[in-house]
Amino acid sequence: MFTIITGAQFGDEGKGKIVDLLAEKYDIVARFQGGDNAGHTVKVGDKTYKLHLVPSGVLFNKRLLIGPGVVLNPKILWGELQALWGEGMKVDLGIDPKTSIIMPYHIEMDALRERARTAKIGTTKRGIGYAYIDKIAREEVQMADITDPELLRKKLEEIAPAKEAAIKEMGGDPSVVRDEAQLGEYLEIGRALKNNLTDVSLEINRALDEEKMVLAEGAQGSFLDVIHGTQKFVTSSFTTAGSACANLGVGPVRVDNVVGVVKAYITRVGEGPLPTELKDETGARLREAGGEYGTTTGRPRRCGWFDAVLGRKAVYLNGYTELALTKLDVLTGLRRIKICVAYELDGEILEYPPESTSDLERCVPVYEEMEGWSESISDALDYNDLPQNARAYVERIQELMDVDIAAISVGPAREQTIYLE
Ligand code: GDP
Ligand code: IMO
Ligand code: MG
Repeated sequence: MFTIITGAQFGDEGKGKIVDLLAEKYDIVARFQGGDNAGHTVKVGDKTYKLHLVPSGVLFNKRLLIGPGVVLNPKILWGELQALWGEGMKVDLGIDPKTSIIMPYHIEMDALRERARTAKIGTTKRGIGYAYIDKIAREEVQMADITDPELLRKKLEEIAPAKEAAIKEMGGDPSVVRDEAQLGEYLEIGRALKNNLTDVSLEINRALDEEKMVLAEGAQGSFLDVIHGTQKFVTSSFTTAGSACANLGVGPVRVDNVVGVVKAYITRVGEGPLPTELKDETGARLREAGGEYGTTTGRPRRCGWFDAVLGRKAVYLNGYTELALTKLDVLTGLRRIKICVAYELDGEILEYPPESTSDLERCVPVYEEMEGWSESISDALDYNDLPQNARAYVERIQELMDVDIAAISVGPAREQTIYLE
């Protein structure tokens, strides 16, 4: 069984929680794109884990894979592994030798470029974009290269002069490119992880041949996709479900399920259009109630009403077979709740978002209003435990998305989940 899970909005939908829940039944959990710009939270008991690179199946001690489509900062991964080992956890991790390495110069270039932009993207400054540029330009350092000083030396001999020139041109300090101390650290981590190298595509395909269960964990969200998202306010990877096949090297006909994680409202961190954004007290209330501060950067997340126009498009972009609706509890206490069911643009009503970002910025949401509920739902175990207005809200979202909601999350903990038939 091969299941892909992706975010249906702008990231931070609660993928970490849902992947952790699903992982119990799976044999392998694999990350297929992005890097440590991701921050996936898993809460077990009174412990909260914020994972940037280690797949969210780690708490169930599953086989974890980092695929070659990921951009990997070895220092961040190493820090995460040490924290997990420090708690006595086993981490059965395989990393594809072709995985692109985020080098210190990528982080430097990300920061320099962002500083120079007049219209900022608001990147996480983790070097994501510049690492992917190098993959496409065929100038990347790969995981295998940092396991062998000779391979890394050869790669850098070829790459370094152009990087130094580029950083100088951007007004930065080019010495970061051949910084011996940093390269030494990378090599040390590479050496320590040498035995973790594996052919991720082969491992997954063989597991599927043996009828094992494989879960592909997406990072970011559908509208941060570098092609289908709100360019230029996007990340630099392919975040939709199809990307799992391409990046993990699994044929599309092997996919069984595609799970979309969707928040009961919407958030975005960084710049870019967010048609239903609430810049008022209600927005601030959602941010506080939902703890909407970036897992990776701590930045406050922008909050808004549920946007079914983006939702419908996400269903097409990913081919969702089911949805997990998260953070329904955060809406508790609102007297009335709005859902954006269409946009108005230049006198026309749109059911799908316009392709151009500048058009999307001009869209005015058309809202439907529903009655809220005041009872706490954080302890609801069964769908029928939810107040009628909460059920009506869930059912309206399901109707607008036209995909079954298989689970409703009413709190960060594992137990705070309602499963639907
Ligand atoms: P991800 O990037 O998609 O994995 O999401 P994040 O971990 O960045 O952000 C989701 C946040 O919401 C985390 O702090 C989770 O612990 C928390 N969370 C997840 N599901 C729920 C829920 O149903 N209710 C509440 N209140 N919090 C949740
Ligand atoms: P998870 O996996 C939310 C956003 C950044 C910025 C844009 C580009 O936790 O859902 P980048 O550093 O990737 O070049 O930044 O993308 N972004 C995310 N927003 N959740 C994420 O990941 C994100 N990863 C990147 O805020 O707007
Ligand atoms: Mg996150």
